[in-house]
Amino acid sequence: MANDASVVSDTRSPAVSNGSLADPFIPPADSTLWRKNFLLGAATASYQIEGAVNEDGRLPSIWDTFSATPGKVLAGDTGAVACDHYHRWEADIDMLASLGLEGYRLSIAWPRVMDAAGAPNRQGLDFYKRLLNRLKEKGITTFVTLYHWDLPQHLEDRGGWLNRDTAYRFTDYTDLMSRELAGTVDAWATLNEPWCSAYLGYGNGHHAPGLADGRFATQAMHHLLLAHGLAIPVLRANDPASQKGIVANIGRGTPNSDSAADQRAAHLFEVQHNAWILDPLLKGAYPEELFELWPGTEPLILDGDLQTISAPLDFLGINYYFRSNVASDGAHGFREVPLEGVERTQMGWEVYPDGLRDLLTGFHSTYHNLPPIYITENGMASDDKVIDGHIDDTQRISFLKRHLAAVDQAIKAGVDIRGYFLWSLMDNFEWAFGYERRFGVVHVDYSTQKRTVKRSAELVAKFLKERKAQV
Ligand code: FCB
Repeated sequence: MANDASVVSDTRSPAVSNGSLADPFIPPADSTLWRKNFLLGAATASYQIEGAVNEDGRLPSIWDTFSATPGKVLAGDTGAVACDHYHRWEADIDMLASLGLEGYRLSIAWPRVMDAAGAPNRQGLDFYKRLLNRLKEKGITTFVTLYHWDLPQHLEDRGGWLNRDTAYRFTDYTDLMSRELAGTVDAWATLNEPWCSAYLGYGNGHHAPGLADGRFATQAMHHLLLAHGLAIPVLRANDPASQKGIVANIGRGTPNSDSAADQRAAHLFEVQHNAWILDPLLKGAYPEELFELWPGTEPLILDGDLQTISAPLDFLGINYYFRSNVASDGAHGFREVPLEGVERTQMGWEVYPDGLRDLLTGFHSTYHNLPPIYITENGMASDDKVIDGHIDDTQRISFLKRHLAAVDQAIKAGVDIRGYFLWSLMDNFEWAFGYERRFGVVHVDYSTQKRTVKRSAELVAKFLKERKAQV
């Protein structure tokens, strides 16, 4: 697979694929992406799109508090209005369906559906019921994430993920949601990216709740994973027909040189980013090397916890964005050495599709009980501008094409990958970066809330239409 500008010039070649003139996105004829049972969808998350933070009994979340704290989010942006999806959900679902997207991954805002005493908030629940029913009417496969970072603030006030009790409160919340929404959810994910919740939220403080202590990070991770493990049997009991899993972000670390020290550094990078989460889930143990990297940070683990955490999964959601080039820090750890002259996105993240393929094939050989995989997020931010009513997001088109080619290669190498969700359906609140970074395949004008389909979305839609028409 090419990983350079030649891919862009390819798009101008007159080659014919699948009976139609090749466009900059369409996969080659022998790609597994043409299989109709490979699910192609888009993803969003509650705090990033909904807005309406004070409506219908919604309680404050840690992201309301964090984004209201000066200096925490670029330009002082908050999710108070976001894409106003809470009010515009019908048109947004119509838009999703009109693009032919087959799956939608959304998350539920915990503070919208339960009060501080744990009682259901009917108005909040009704919002998700309406939304999911409409998606089902449209024939769209629904992936619902229970926790995409918007913890109720009242739980943070009692220690948040540092308090073991939060894992039990998450079980109550899971119980309520899976009883109320059973039958409308095809796949439940307990958590989105526990690495970000634990490390960015409690380890370096870049995300809510903004605490910064290595011991906090490992303890928060343990309680997050415990919450996941406790929730799985609840989901199985309440909604047996659905699939149950979790979503992890994974990072590729490559060595800056051939030296043994740099090779080890790259390995440690992946221990810290991937094995920290995947080993307890799939092997029932934390990687020893994590605590060599971060001495003295072992969390408090009670008997039986790791067994709970390693409950079998129906699927594993994988989010992938970039790689990091790393070198030894001269001691026991690693440091990042950003490469010069490589392609980057608006986030500054390096575009590196091979990393996705290599990680997937690596997991396939490392974890013998690896469940079926969905790529639950992949995409890129660019400074998209509407010109004469159009957005020509050329870099994104090439990015998506190359990452989907990496997925195809992993499938051909034997990895069981069942689908792919674009991040994101529309531009939204990009956490600490606010609204400046645009990840959507649909553009949002935040002053008018007007949605404009970008060229990338048009090409994905065209591919899906062609695939559907195939006999
Ligand atoms: C992931 C998050 C998602 C989005 C993308 C860009 O880490 O899960 O909400 O912000 O990054």
